[in-house]
Amino acid sequence: MKNTFYVTTPIYYPSGKFHIGTAYTTVLADTMKRYKKLRGYDTFMLTGTDEHGQKIETVAEKNGKTPQKYVDEMAQMAKELWTKMDIQYDYFIRTTEKRHEDAVQKIFEYFLEKGDIYKGTYEGLYCMPCETYFTETQLVDGKCPDCGREVKLMKEEAYFFNMKKYADKLLKYYEDHPDFIQPEYRKTEMINNFIKPGLEDLCVTRTSFDWGIKVKSNPKHVIYVWLDALTNYLTALGYMSEDDTLLKKYWPADLQIIGKDIARFHLIYWPIFLMALDLPLPKKILVHNWIMMKDGKMSKSKGNVVYPEKLIDRYGLDATKYFLLREMPESQDGLYTPESFIERYNYDLCNDLGNLVNRTVSMVNKYFNGQVPEYNGTPNDVDKEFEEFTNNKIENVEKLLENAELSNALQEIWSIISRTNKYIDETRPWELEKNDEQEKLKSSMYHLIENIRKIGIILLPIMEQTSKNLLGQIGIPEELQIWDSLKIYNNLKDIKVIEKGEPLFMRKKVEEELEYLRKK
Ligand code: MSP
Repeated sequence: MKNTFYVTTPIYYPSGKFHIGTAYTTVLADTMKRYKKLRGYDTFMLTGTDEHGQKIETVAEKNGKTPQKYVDEMAQMAKELWTKMDIQYDYFIRTTEKRHEDAVQKIFEYFLEKGDIYKGTYEGLYCMPCETYFTETQLVDGKCPDCGREVKLMKEEAYFFNMKKYADKLLKYYEDHPDFIQPEYRKTEMINNFIKPGLEDLCVTRTSFDWGIKVKSNPKHVIYVWLDALTNYLTALGYMSEDDTLLKKYWPADLQIIGKDIARFHLIYWPIFLMALDLPLPKKILVHNWIMMKDGKMSKSKGNVVYPEKLIDRYGLDATKYFLLREMPESQDGLYTPESFIERYNYDLCNDLGNLVNRTVSMVNKYFNGQVPEYNGTPNDVDKEFEEFTNNKIENVEKLLENAELSNALQEIWSIISRTNKYIDETRPWELEKNDEQEKLKSSMYHLIENIRKIGIILLPIMEQTSKNLLGQIGIPEELQIWDSLKIYNNLKDIKVIEKGEPLFMRKKVEEELEYLRKK
């Protein structure tokens, strides 16, 4: 039986078009799915939309639509973007689908029966017109942070989840599973900021609005949107439904990817819900940082939002994905600026990668009529060092990909590309030709094509179109475009490069592009 790999993104609030920040998580998850698939895993990727809650109810109303009509349109819009971005998800869950709603109701009743959920009284500062509770710290000058009006201390019947009961168990789990949370500092944050000071029980129902899943045994209560939303990772696989084959096959998830703003829900409440359900926890939750703009967060009100379509339509999908994945370091936020985007495009993609392929293809045409020379199997000193360098880097890249560290992996891949460009300067094929040093010239061309082949294969999960184009240009047949061929030398027999290399990326004029990118 094949190994399985289950990767999830958060389910998105459908509150308008998705920007490049929201697209990041999905691109990362898709890349990981593609990578594992290339490594022979039976993969499953989940994404979807988080369609309940007061916010949605309010936005729908503002748009003059019923909440259902509104979320239907939004889910459609999300799917269209993922199609444009060639995201290979296996299931798109919507929390308004019946199977999910039924399962959430069952989960709630199960928690009630077990005593993990109990009925109590919710007390808080309530803003009547906004129908929302706030904590003291959320208030602005003691007033509602949304509308600025007076808030009132209110009490109402509500259900609570007994988080306290699980606090020690969760700490112990963190301790016993050092790979559970990545990067590690997010775990420390959870322990210091939330668990050590004492976990509060969580209020898991609301009565102030209607748009949500009702508590089966007491329908005037609506289930809290996070309890509803988090369980999507299970219900999408058929948990608590008639057919849970997928759950048996794929649970526990191998990788759950989330942004830093929703860390608390995923690193504390989610594992506790799973413990309460007696289910195994996901193997890894990866918390990524945010893509920021020079003036801070991307937001519609600031008018600084960048939509993926803008980049894809002009620079292609691969360049867009490359930028997003490369510019998000593990330890801090990533930064988008028009300048950095165009720089990455012109330097990394056109110069470093594109020119390397182009130059090599034309040299193989010029010196060997397009036929890639066979390797005699004995590297000279220059080649030996070059082979070793490449092999070490490939090993590093594999480790980084296993860890979903895409920015670091791309950095390493680009160091192979730079080293390969340097190899041209070191071996100086044009001089070898002039001096009729045939063996060295053959070895140089062979090694260049070999490295480009490896670069192409290693980029397959990240930039598929570019990789396929590149591998096609150097004549690698489809059946040899496989991960396992990365470690092999002496693999190229009867390979012919195309007659005229085509640029993988067209160099752009910086000023023109900046104007395009700065335009709203
Ligand atoms: N609906 C919840 C998730 C429920 S999961 C059970 C939600 N949705 S969201 O649409 O607001 O956000 C979805 C994801 O996009 C989150 O992981 C969030 O961190 C991420 N991002 C939103 N803006 C982002 C950036 N600027 N950069 C990177 N990721 C960003 O939260």
